[in-house]
Amino acid sequence: MTSGSFDFAPLLAAGLPAPAAKWTGLPRYNFTGGNNDADHVPVDRLIAAATAVLEREGPTLATYGLASGPLGYRALREFLAEKLKRTAGMSCNADEILITSGSLQAIDLVNGVLLARGDTVLIEQETYQGALTRLARLGVTLVGIPLDGEGMRMDALAAALDHLARRGIRPKYIYTIPTVQNPTGTIMGEQRRRELLRLSEHHGVPIFEDDCYADLIWDGRRPPALHAMSNSGGVIHIGSFSKSIAPALRVGYIVARWEILARMLALKTDAGSGALEQMVLAEFCASHFTDHVPKLTRGLRAKLDTLMESLAEHFGTSAEFDDPKGGIFLWVKLPDGVDTQKLAQAALASGVAINPGPDWSTDKAYGKSRLRLCFASPSKEAIRDGVATLAEVCRREFGVPTRIANVEQRARA
Ligand SMILES: Cc1ncc(COP(=O)(O)O)c(C=O)c1O
Repeated sequence: MTSGSFDFAPLLAAGLPAPAAKWTGLPRYNFTGGNNDADHVPVDRLIAAATAVLEREGPTLATYGLASGPLGYRALREFLAEKLKRTAGMSCNADEILITSGSLQAIDLVNGVLLARGDTVLIEQETYQGALTRLARLGVTLVGIPLDGEGMRMDALAAALDHLARRGIRPKYIYTIPTVQNPTGTIMGEQRRRELLRLSEHHGVPIFEDDCYADLIWDGRRPPALHAMSNSGGVIHIGSFSKSIAPALRVGYIVARWEILARMLALKTDAGSGALEQMVLAEFCASHFTDHVPKLTRGLRAKLDTLMESLAEHFGTSAEFDDPKGGIFLWVKLPDGVDTQKLAQAALASGVAINPGPDWSTDKAYGKSRLRLCFASPSKEAIRDGVATLAEVCRREFGVPTRIANVEQRARA
């Protein structure tokens, strides 16, 4: 361990975020984060892809950006252009795709070119925590738009846009996760997408479409991307390989017109995202992406079934949820008296990690008795045992569930 008494504290830059907590290892039952299913990482095929691409093109690693330039490895961008056409109906070419270090960097770059302190953005009321924390740090005003079973509600969006227009405010973007929403798991239908595009064009407010779960739909069928349906070009689309292949690879992408990508490239100061990951992915995806994804989603669906059965068994009617259309999360409502921030702390002490609802919502009161459970990474056995432990902790701390699988529980001594 490094030792010494030099004091950096007085030298730290002003306005830094709070320090990170030290990592203490993975909890026994981990329902947090956007982790994937370890059994479905296609390790053998990734090894074969790595060997093949390195034997063929290894010397190009001598050049920043390989021989492909700053947008990222060309073969990967060409795969994406073809795949996005086939699955999401998008017409874009490889020069309209920027490869990023995960889609988190994509979010940072979109924010970097569009946002300044004091700006306003519209965002789904329940949404990705990583987007919320970034916007808070940037000092941006968030207007949360409530959701229903089809995602962002257009009546509420229209009212918010009108209200802001009356006050002379033009929001910088409408951020949406329309295809398997995080955390609610809904999919926005085509008609609603049309209405969203109409409102965006009418008010001159671009759409920021985050599509990172779009490959993980149980029946494999998805509506066209908003980017594909837009006539005005006012949609910036981002995606990721984190959910379809593996998050540790850290490969995401942005699809946008060149003039906006050019502004982002000027902010992307890392001299290119990790080249080896891009090369391996391009090699793997060309032959295996299409058959890998249905295998992964079948495994995820089976784990979701285990989770929903375990919740029914251990929480009975105290846990309410809708069956998500795909993805890796279940969004759960517990009785009003449960504070999921406190539950999360107590559960962690018993080895169960959960994401409390307020972190995933612009409306902290609405999120208070809700929680998000990631079912992709724990094994089925861990899901069962973890939910049983969570129910025990919840009963101890909040007196619910009083009934398990609709069977009254005797108070424990
Ligand atoms: C909606 C959404 N967008 C973006 C990300 C960032 O993912 P990554 O940086 O791994 O691509 C996540 C991760 O969970 C997410 O849920």
